[in-house]
Amino acid sequence: MKPLGLHEIRSAFLDYFEQNEHLALPSFSLVPQGDKSLLLIGAGMAPMKKFFTGEAEPPAHRVCTSQKCIRTGDIENVGKTDRHATFFEMLGNFSFGDYFKREAIHWAWGFLTDVLEIDPNLLWATVYLDDDEAYAIWNEEIGLPKERIVRLGKDDNFWELAVGPSGPCSEIYFDRGEKHGCGDPDCKPGCDCDRYIEVWNLVFTQFDKDEEGEYHPLSNPNIDTGMGLERIASVLQEANNIFEIDAIHAILEDICAMADYEYGTDKKKDESVRVITDHIRAITFMISDSIVPSNEGRGYVERRLTRRAAKHGRNLGIEGAFLYKLSESVIDSWKVQYKELDDNREVIARVIKREEERFLKTLETGMSLLDEEIEKLNKEGKKELSGAEAFKLYDTYGFPVDLTQEILAESGFTLDEAGFEKEMEAQKVRAREARDDSDEIGWSSASSFELNDVDEAIEFVGYETTEVTEAALLHILAKGEEVEQLGAGEKGLFYLTPTPFYGESGGQIGDTGFIIADGFKIRVEDTQKTKTGHIYAVGTVEEGIAAAGKVDAVVDKKRREKIRRNHSVTHLLHKALKDQLGDHVNQAGSYVGPDFMRFDFTHYEGVSDADLRAVEEAVNDAIFKSMPVKTEILSYDEAKDAGAVGLFEDKYGDEVRVVSMGDYSKELCGGTHVDNTAQIGLFKILSESGISAGVRRVETVTGPAVYELLNRSMGVNKKIAGLLKVTDDVIIDKLVQHLDKEKGLEKELSKLHADMAKSKMAEEVGDVESIAGIHVIRGHFTDVAVEDLRNMAEKLRDKENALIVLSTVSGGKVNFVCASPKNLIEKGFKAGDIVREVAKIAGGGGGGRPDMATAGAKDAAKVEEAMARVKDIINAIGN
Ligand code: ALA
Repeated sequence: MKPLGLHEIRSAFLDYFEQNEHLALPSFSLVPQGDKSLLLIGAGMAPMKKFFTGEAEPPAHRVCTSQKCIRTGDIENVGKTDRHATFFEMLGNFSFGDYFKREAIHWAWGFLTDVLEIDPNLLWATVYLDDDEAYAIWNEEIGLPKERIVRLGKDDNFWELAVGPSGPCSEIYFDRGEKHGCGDPDCKPGCDCDRYIEVWNLVFTQFDKDEEGEYHPLSNPNIDTGMGLERIASVLQEANNIFEIDAIHAILEDICAMADYEYGTDKKKDESVRVITDHIRAITFMISDSIVPSNEGRGYVERRLTRRAAKHGRNLGIEGAFLYKLSESVIDSWKVQYKELDDNREVIARVIKREEERFLKTLETGMSLLDEEIEKLNKEGKKELSGAEAFKLYDTYGFPVDLTQEILAESGFTLDEAGFEKEMEAQKVRAREARDDSDEIGWSSASSFELNDVDEAIEFVGYETTEVTEAALLHILAKGEEVEQLGAGEKGLFYLTPTPFYGESGGQIGDTGFIIADGFKIRVEDTQKTKTGHIYAVGTVEEGIAAAGKVDAVVDKKRREKIRRNHSVTHLLHKALKDQLGDHVNQAGSYVGPDFMRFDFTHYEGVSDADLRAVEEAVNDAIFKSMPVKTEILSYDEAKDAGAVGLFEDKYGDEVRVVSMGDYSKELCGGTHVDNTAQIGLFKILSESGISAGVRRVETVTGPAVYELLNRSMGVNKKIAGLLKVTDDVIIDKLVQHLDKEKGLEKELSKLHADMAKSKMAEEVGDVESIAGIHVIRGHFTDVAVEDLRNMAEKLRDKENALIVLSTVSGGKVNFVCASPKNLIEKGFKAGDIVREVAKIAGGGGGGRPDMATAGAKDAAKVEEAMARVKDIINAIGN
């Protein structure tokens, strides 16, 4: 066995698989990218799920990595046992539809026995229950005797995450010797004792598990292997636990030196040393991946680890912040593989120190309060702290509940967890209610954040420039609170001065762009102003950890140019509307964005097409005249005297900003504008409408948007011309022809329908019957007009000299028609009487002349019955 160091084993592993044509990739970040099912990366394959499922193309079909991992499921056990750790590195080789079981097993065996020179007699393998293929490879190809191959079930030999690639696996175990065993002669891998330790897991990834827990076979079988670096190092170094491994032990020693403590002399203190040894690696690596302490998600894991480690530092008697110094030892050692540690050295120390200091303050207050509570419980003979008390510690003093629990446990007390949860829920409801319509980053708190309180002015330089270098980022707000740092992926509000970002006002929407500094980059998604007029950018940290300091700020220039055109054109439009419609027209609101502009104005009626055309022409004239745009700061009176239009309100103060466009327009305005009206390019009104009594609205576009509109409508014309098979200058004539033709066809069609209905009618008339000694003809129709029915009845009556009774149901309505020839009328068979009786049966009424009568009814379901009873009605008259 080669007693290699931790860092040497990692290199040997990556070299070995590179020699076997694998691409060695650097570790992925601890922060899962585009995967909401995971909080942190906890396995080598986790960042590569998409390569397994085929959703993304891998950079190579054979890959190997040493992946930073964090698992926090057993955080309470860290320090207490030999094995538990939160941070570890996983060595893995992966095949994406390339090799499968045979190569995976051969290479794993080769690395362990040839490169690491582990005695093959000390290695065992497990396979999934019925995986005879893997069994045969181990037994027949590797030559592992049957006694050292164990078949295990789903609990041990099926690997999966909550969601994603999964499959049966085969594990390799190392036999540490009888002295570590349980004494059972049948002891083997799968036993709970410490004799056999799993060193490598070879997963034969064949399925993709979905959110419902269904397994879908993957089109290509893949290989995912994982070997804990610390685990294999402990085997090679014959260490009893991970804390004896060279690089990790060095950290442990640093801690002991700081605490002036001799390891191994006090059980409780040893545990504290181990907790810190583990946690400091996790914390250091997390921050280098831009995870900063916060109260939720990954940030909370980081906070919890830092606070837990800080507390154990106190158990060791270390005064003040110390973890930040320890991060240096981690960086110095692990930077051989993880350059990001060295690159972020200062940030890491700063973030840790700040969190430690905060926590120490919290700890002092919280501990003494908790001590009081414990004393109270003692006096009252109780064993459980109420949820309300724990919540007060948490909510008012920021004392973490897990710490409350740990401290209680140390003194033999428990916490009413359900009671605590109830309090938490109640607080969430309160917070939700208080937030009213604010969103996740806390808009309402943002606008009530008064920068006047901190005495800094924010200078807007966006009239002159769209870029500022070396601005000062003064404050960062997240979720309504000022924060020192903000990690990647987090949203926040950023106050900087001088700022080129225009804060939404006067109808003009806020700028977007980037804030960039050494070590971080923020995407600015909007810019707003506080009530007191302080501009702030709203954005998301895209890279690194944002913190106050020197930054460069860059506005999205193209977008700003579009906004400028749309803003300047509001002034021209305002003037043109006044000229065309009268001086009563005044601006009543506007929206100025990059894509379009909306302008509301006072006017008592709809604007005619001719007026709209004239206004549009006047604005375009002003554009074509290429008038310079000038801004000046004047006194309120000077501006008024110069004839500037705008809202002359006190809020403008003594000095106002006046924007003039040639001699044409002069307005008070705080917005950003073009330098010359020609830059607007072209102007087009899209619509005009009324929005309330006396207020009209037009929606308009400028410059490139007009060009796009033109292209679109010319494209439509072309398409129509193509469909009509004519050139586009005659499409109207051609369309008119088509419409005329359509009208003619419609007429023909309806005539055809009528004829068809008539011929249908003829078919549905029954034969001549003899009832009560007279000739009767009955018939029922659907969807036939009463008019047609009458004609029909008359014709039949005269032709057959019979009594005719017809019915029709059309759109749920029923009509009956009865016609009686002269000779039958004389015998008492009057059409009016008969139709009335028939209609009655279907819930209707009517009547009329004895020779011809109609009646309506409502109940279509009764028509059949009514027509059947015609017989009875005639019989009754005849007898
Ligand atoms: N994905 C497998 C594991 O983490 C290799 O054990």
